[in-house]
Amino acid sequence: MKRIGVLTSGGDAPGMNAAVRAVVRTCVFKNIEIYGICEGYKGLIDGNINPLSSTDVSNIIQRGGTILKSSRSQEFFDVEGRKKAHQNIQKFELDGIVTIGGDGTFTGASIFNQEYSSSIVGIPGTIDNDLFGTDYTIGYDTALNTVVEAVDKIKDTASSHNRLFIIEVMGKDAGFIALNSGIGVGADAILIPETPTYINQLIKKLDNGNSHKSSMIVIVAEGDDAGGAYEVAKKLKEECPKYDSRVTILGHIQRGGSPSAMDRVLASRMGNAAVNALLENKSNVMIGIIDKQIAYTPFEKSIKHHNKINKSLLDLTEILSY
Ligand code: F6P
Repeated sequence: MKRIGVLTSGGDAPGMNAAVRAVVRTCVFKNIEIYGICEGYKGLIDGNINPLSSTDVSNIIQRGGTILKSSRSQEFFDVEGRKKAHQNIQKFELDGIVTIGGDGTFTGASIFNQEYSSSIVGIPGTIDNDLFGTDYTIGYDTALNTVVEAVDKIKDTASSHNRLFIIEVMGKDAGFIALNSGIGVGADAILIPETPTYINQLIKKLDNGNSHKSSMIVIVAEGDDAGGAYEVAKKLKEECPKYDSRVTILGHIQRGGSPSAMDRVLASRMGNAAVNALLENKSNVMIGIIDKQIAYTPFEKSIKHHNKINKSLLDLTEILSY
């Protein structure tokens, strides 16, 4: 392994830069050349690939976003796109690739690996925390803290006006952000894609709690089957006009910001482990940390829907919001 390429792909996540830094610095320490691939798989296809030095990653550990930039490349999901990517891997003489991203990134990596048997190792970088094979993904802790900070502020105004706030957080297919931030802010109800939402049950729940509460918070994951925060607010208004409700969509604010200490440490460990894995001839695997130890999970196993929500946390919300 003389030369490695590193890329960030899919939705960016705070801590991706810390992971890139760890990959680069580990390579430099081990006398391996390291190249940065710009804009994820798009850069691999376009040949937008440049050498990186230790100083190129100075002062980025605290920065959100990704200095390598990111994209969701549709071309990489075409045979022709992957062929070009493979040609560039050969042209730039990359012996291994570290790909940092989420389920879409690893789906692409897995298909690519089946076709070309390239040495490719993944680092889980997504705020969604929806990958199997790691306790936490890079960016999740920061996103949770961003949500908690924002909702704490909303709670001030909610209580001043005796209002019900319906707050939408990210999570197209997964409710990890909604569930854990909901517990963190003391939400009255949490709606997630993994469980069906019934408006009449929600009303019952809110009514039960209403006797001793002046304001209420409902956290909705964007992928919940009720159809998002505006739809929930609309249905609530139809069924229960007594609530003076407001909607807040937190949106992409959840993806930005300086990574938390947890995310920086996680990213640093995983970046180092990814290079070591390539040196040990591991491939087609995602690096994870399970019970504090580095773990390796095949890409196919790591992706979507394998990581199960802890339903007991929903029960906990029921108890604590009563
Ligand atoms: O990064 C994952 C994620 O944050 C999802 O929770 C969300 O649905 C999606 O990205 C939105 O991404 P974009 O706006 O970049 O398409």
